[in-house]
Amino acid sequence: MRKVLFASFESLPFVKTGGLADVVYALPKAIDKDKYEVKVCLPLLKVIKDKYYDSLTYLDSIEVHSGYINEDANIYSYNNEGIEYLFIENDSLFYRDGVYGYDDDVCRFSLFNVAILEMMIKLNYYPDICHEHDYHTAILPALCKARYCGIEKIRNIKHILTIHNLVYQGEYNRQVLFDLLAFDYKYYENGDLRFNDYCNFMKIGITFADKVTTVSKSYAEEIQTPGHGDNLESILQYRSQDLCGIVNGIDCTQFDPSTDKNIFKNYSIKNVFKVKPENKKSLQYNLGLNEEPDTMLIGMVSRLTFQKGADIFLGAIQEMLRHNVQIAILGTGESFYEESFKALERENKGRFVYYCGYNEALAHKMYAGLDMLLMPSLFEPCGISQLIAMRYGTLPLVRETGGLKDTVEPFNEYTMTGRGFSFKDYSSGDLLKVFDYAYVQYYEYHDRWDKIIKNAMEYDVSFAKSAKEYEALYDEVVTE
Ligand code: GLC
Repeated sequence: MRKVLFASFESLPFVKTGGLADVVYALPKAIDKDKYEVKVCLPLLKVIKDKYYDSLTYLDSIEVHSGYINEDANIYSYNNEGIEYLFIENDSLFYRDGVYGYDDDVCRFSLFNVAILEMMIKLNYYPDICHEHDYHTAILPALCKARYCGIEKIRNIKHILTIHNLVYQGEYNRQVLFDLLAFDYKYYENGDLRFNDYCNFMKIGITFADKVTTVSKSYAEEIQTPGHGDNLESILQYRSQDLCGIVNGIDCTQFDPSTDKNIFKNYSIKNVFKVKPENKKSLQYNLGLNEEPDTMLIGMVSRLTFQKGADIFLGAIQEMLRHNVQIAILGTGESFYEESFKALERENKGRFVYYCGYNEALAHKMYAGLDMLLMPSLFEPCGISQLIAMRYGTLPLVRETGGLKDTVEPFNEYTMTGRGFSFKDYSSGDLLKVFDYAYVQYYEYHDRWDKIIKNAMEYDVSFAKSAKEYEALYDEVVTE
């Protein structure tokens, strides 16, 4: 039995700020339990503590001394759906209303990483593999191989770092390496820990991990180029032999139109053409849109940031509204977009609606009730919404980047293959061109539209296949 420890700052079902939480929740469940024992280590954040504290099992206490950090922490265990979660409790750093965005985030991440190692020593639990997720835990490999290298069982741990989004790197003043992480200066001097005289958590992870993965094959290639490498492209190229893309899946129990309690009426591929329109009608009513079941209803469920293509979408909306369509948007983000969407709603009552906030139940209703989901992202490491949309028979219209390119095969009217629509250039013009094409398919070729829905729903979006790829990687690193 191989022991794998996931280290992440967030995971469902406890807390979520982004797709990272979906993956850290769904992937361990998909890993073969007969061969791998996966545990997940998380900080005991306020949202988790307030809800779960009474159900946690206290395991032990540790002291964390790391540079200026001198803190006590408690370790708790909790079982959920066959996975053991280990929580690190330290109220002064983790018991806060939010997850990220504090001035002392670097202390919080540093403490968390060091505490994971102190926990291993205290519990005498040494995983064969540590699987780190994003920059928040990307310094673990270096801690194991440099600062804690005197302890054989820690030194021998293999590390897989998964990059969910390279834009966020955790760049800090270099003093962090000594004042908070207590690294020996020699690792700075030889270049292993430094990045342009700064401390960059992601760079350190990429340098020290045994394997680096990211969440789609296309993104793995893109990040080795200046356009998407965010200054780390050279280091990623240097590690290219150990870098690969493994596309995300979704938890098909959580997202299943035949059992989903959040949607108006359950359906499957067998009755999608009869029942999906009923979901659409109820959604229109619910959102205050005109109840016109035959009008094409398109939407976006997304953070409204530059990454998600909010600007090219905004640039295309007026033209889209000249067509017979309704548009629904759910999400929060940069205030410019929020204000613009609010204004559009005022000007286009009954045809354009913007829900400013996050509402999981409404998101599900949209996945079930929309005809088409837009994801015109500037870049997209993987993307989760397009996978959910396909499972619900809602056709994704995406930009060909990262995981969107890898998962949404565009419709080809000659072979009748494909699961959605896609465009290449990051521009409102290109988005409109493919929108026009989809619009014609929707109104004039019902048989084609239905076939694309079938193709989308038949596509395997589960984590099963990708979990096998991770397992192969786990086996490879331990036998190397
Ligand atoms: C990040 C990426 C997204 C990806 C998710 C999970 O949120 O932006 O594309 O799907 O992580 O890996």
